[in-house]
Amino acid sequence: MSKNIIVAIDGYSSCGKSTLAKALAKKLHFIYVDSGAMYRAVTLYFLRNQTDLSNHDIIIDALEHIDLNFHSRDYQSHILLNGEEVSEEIRQMPVSENVSKIAAIKEVRQAMVKQQQKMAKSKNMVMDGRDIGTTVFPNAQVKLFMTADPKIRAERRYRELLSKGEQVELEEIFENLAHRDYLDTTREESPLVRADDAIILDNTNLSEEEQLNFALDKIKPFLITL
Ligand code: CDP
Ligand code: CDP
Repeated sequence: MSKNIIVAIDGYSSCGKSTLAKALAKKLHFIYVDSGAMYRAVTLYFLRNQTDLSNHDIIIDALEHIDLNFHSRDYQSHILLNGEEVSEEIRQMPVSENVSKIAAIKEVRQAMVKQQQKMAKSKNMVMDGRDIGTTVFPNAQVKLFMTADPKIRAERRYRELLSKGEQVELEEIFENLAHRDYLDTTREESPLVRADDAIILDNTNLSEEEQLNFALDKIKPFLITL
């Protein structure tokens, strides 16, 4: 019996992970899961409830009241927080400014990882995040570790938010990406680190099509087992 294929994509903030993951899922007819959306939705829940984010006991106790679900349409990953679609709201700055604090809490990570591993049972999947190749799927057939020049990353995210009508400053985005990368790489619980067997993909000078072709080349040898 053939085994399901997992493509794990990790890397810094706004490196093009989800753009690549979506394109791969569409091309290969795999399921796409945006693990960052889960941490963002959990953060949104606590922001809406005006929870003191430094009170980890309250956060841990409340986790059982948070129900996350994905539904996939046109290879886009839509996330539901207690039944409500929040895919747009979780991209806004208040969530970006707080998500890495929530994502550093051990019990939050344990709950997310458990759900992520369950989603991949017998399915071909592309999942992007920070700990996918190290913690969630250490046996993934293909692991990519994405990086790009921080200024380019900030400019790309800035253009994206402006096009959605958000009022943001480039400097604010740059600071947010740098701060999240710092928290994500230095936290105790599964920090962002390249898995030993992950292939580095620096897309500073690559178009979306070029990065897709790079990744497809790495995945092709495994498709033969499908
Ligand atoms: O899209 P962007 O790179 O801005 O971030 P994201 O993938 O939506 O993730 C938001 C935040 O969630 C990250 O900065 C991490 O703090 C956290 N995260 C994580 O800790 N582990 C993951 N597997 C995915 C996201
Ligand atoms: O998921 P992650 O936060 O790593 O990044 P993303 O949301 O996929 O990409 C951030 C922005 O960079 C998006 O607006 C992409 O369209 C853009 N991008 C790009 O211009 N060129 C690439 N090679 C990859 C992404």
